[in-house]
Amino acid sequence: MPKAVRRTFVLVTTPVALVALLGAAAPPSQGSSGAGDPYFPLAGNGGYHVGHYGLTLDYDPGSGHLAGTAVLTARASQRLTRFDLDLNGLTVTGLTVGHTKAAFRRDGQELVVTPKRALRKGEWFTVTVAYKGKPAPVTDPDGSLDGWIPTDDGAFVAGEPQGAMTWFPANNHPKDKSSYDITITVPKGHTAVSNGVLLGERTAHGKTTFRWRQSEPMAAYLATATVGKFKVQQFTTRDGLHVYNAIDPREAAAATPVVKQLPSVLEWESKLFGPYPYRAAGSIVDHAPNVGYALETQTRPVYDRAPDLSTLVHESAHQWFGDSVSLTSWKDIWLNEGFATYAEWLYAEQHGGDSAQKTFDELYAKPASDGLWEFPPGDPGSGANIFGTPVYARGAMTLHVLREAVGDRTFLRILRTWAGEHRDGHGTTAQFVALAEHLSGKNLDKLFQTWLYAPGKPN
Ligand code: TRP
Ligand code: ZN
Repeated sequence: MPKAVRRTFVLVTTPVALVALLGAAAPPSQGSSGAGDPYFPLAGNGGYHVGHYGLTLDYDPGSGHLAGTAVLTARASQRLTRFDLDLNGLTVTGLTVGHTKAAFRRDGQELVVTPKRALRKGEWFTVTVAYKGKPAPVTDPDGSLDGWIPTDDGAFVAGEPQGAMTWFPANNHPKDKSSYDITITVPKGHTAVSNGVLLGERTAHGKTTFRWRQSEPMAAYLATATVGKFKVQQFTTRDGLHVYNAIDPREAAAATPVVKQLPSVLEWESKLFGPYPYRAAGSIVDHAPNVGYALETQTRPVYDRAPDLSTLVHESAHQWFGDSVSLTSWKDIWLNEGFATYAEWLYAEQHGGDSAQKTFDELYAKPASDGLWEFPPGDPGSGANIFGTPVYARGAMTLHVLREAVGDRTFLRILRTWAGEHRDGHGTTAQFVALAEHLSGKNLDKLFQTWLYAPGKPN
C-alpha cells in the first residue's frame, strides 16, 4: 500500500478527519462547491461570505434577453486559490477579481473562478461578472418553476429555493446574507420592481432605469427584479415606511382592496412579532398564470395573481420569519412556513374569523392516512417536500400545541424574542426549541419531538 494512502486510512479513524473527508474533496485552499445543505448539495459555496451585491441589469421583454453585470464584494473565510459562484444558464463574457482578469469555467450550476493570485484568509475582494443571455427558470424537485420566469409582459422573478442563480451569479444559500443594489433598465412603459427602497427612476432614449437598494441583509432567494406593465402606487406612512406597490392592471380589481390593507397588517404583525424589520414595504401583484405561488421576496412580496387577505398576511409574516430570521438549512423550512401559516390563523382569530383552536381541530380530525401526516415537518426528507402540506399545516399545528403548553403570554414572548434575537440573522430549530424551553421554564422536548419529528399522526 503506498504511503500516502496508508496515512489517509489512519486519519479516517479520527472524527474530524472523517468529516473533512466526507465534506470536501477539494484541497483546503479551494472553496467548496456547496454550502453543505443535504437537500441542495450544490446550493451556495464555501470559503467566502458576500457582503454586498451590485447588480446592473438590462432586460428586453420582447426578446427575453438579459444583459447583466454583477459586482460582488466578498470576504474570504479561508485562503482561496479557487472558489465557486452559482450561475445557471447565461453566458459569462468577462470576469475579474479585483481589477485583474480571472480564469473561470462552467460546470453545471458552478461557476468556478481561479483568481490570478490566491486570496488570503480574511481578505475582502470584489468579483465582477459580465454576463448575458436568455434567462430561464429552473425546475425544482417538486416540479415547480423557480427563478426568472418570463411572462407575457415581462418576467416574474422569485428564487426560492434555487432560482436566484438563473439571473445573477450568487452564493446561493440562505446561510449567506448580503445587502443589494439592484439597477434594472427596461423599455419605457415597463416597470422593474425589486427589493427595498427605490432610489431613482430615469427615462432616456426609450428606456427606463430603476435603481433599488436593499440595505438590510438578504438571502439571495429573496431577491426579485420583477418586470411588467404595472400600475404603481408609492407613499410613505406616518412611521416613515416607504411603500411601493406594483399591480398588473388585469389583477387590479381584485388586488387593490387587499393590497390596501398591507400597512394595517404590518402594524398588527408588529404588535405581535415586534418591530417590522425593514424600512421599505409593498406588494408586487403580477399576472403570471404559469407560476402557481407567491413568494415573500424581501420587503415586497411577489404574487402570481391577486392575493386574498390571508395570503397577504402569510407573506407579510415571512418578513419576520424567513426573511429577517433566515434558515441555515432547508430542512428547517417549517421555521418559515409553519410560522407564516400560524400568523394566518392568529389573524383570522383576532379579526372575526375562526379561532386557531378551531383550525387546529379541523386539521387534527383528518385521518392518519391523510397527506397531512405523510412526513414530519421538522424532517421533510428531501427538497421535493419542503413546500408540502405537513410543513405548512403541521408546522403551524406545532406552534399551536406550543401555545397551549406555555400559555398565550409566554407564547407571544417566545415569538417576539425569536424575531428580535435573530433579526437580520439566522435561526435553527434547535435554537427555537431551546428558547421556548428557556422562556417557559418547561421541558418541551417531548412536544417538539412528537410534532416536528415523529412520523405519522401524533396522538
Ligand atoms: N414560500 C412560498 C410561500 O409559502 C411558497 C413557495 C415558494 C413555493 N416557492 C415555491 C411553493 C415553490 C411551491 C413551490 O409563501
Ligand atoms: Zn410561506
